[in-house]
Amino acid sequence: MPLQLVQGDISRQQADALVTAANKQLMGGGGVDGVIHRAAGPELLRAIRQFGGTPTGTAVITPAFNLERQGVRYVIHAVGPIWRGGGADEAELLAGAYRESLRLATQHGCRSVAFPAISTGIYGYPLERAAPIALGTIQEFLRAHPDMSVSVVLYDAGSFNVFQRALKGLPDR
Ligand code: AR6
Repeated sequence: MPLQLVQGDISRQQADALVTAANKQLMGGGGVDGVIHRAAGPELLRAIRQFGGTPTGTAVITPAFNLERQGVRYVIHAVGPIWRGGGADEAELLAGAYRESLRLATQHGCRSVAFPAISTGIYGYPLERAAPIALGTIQEFLRAHPDMSVSVVLYDAGSFNVFQRALKGLPDR
């Protein structure tokens, strides 16, 4: 299955690239980013600091350091928007974070990518609104790259259910 939903901890997944939800300063943070940094080790923070930041709606890619032990080759640091009520281009910026991550993954020869639900934690993006944007952007990419497999890893049952409903609501590929 090219697009899969998984419930669990993304830092335990095996994929060529794991995506983390970063901030535009690329300074490391809490939430899923904290979990991925702990799993990858301190070299990950040194590696992203060299970028000096990246705009909202974009992403950067680094090696996976200690995560390589479980078969992960890269960590992609995607910066989603902070939710400001919906009138600040949030949808386009969120789609951009997914698109740019997938572009970097392809450019680096990845065949499998695992995403968290970018922006839906500390950044406050409502899950019901984020899910169709995330899944629609991934589906659009998969139409052009049918050899890739992408999973979205939802931490809890509630967010997993929201994404599952959104996936059923998408038009067939
Ligand atoms: N595996 C999968 N998903 C997780 C995990 C995990 N281990 N832990 C949390 N989530 P967040 P954001 C979910 O807050 O909203 C950081 O400090 C979580 O339930 O990590 O994009 C950055 O540095 C939520 O659904 O990211 C930024 O400053 C989703 O991951 C800021 O937070 C994203 O939650 C980014 O905020």
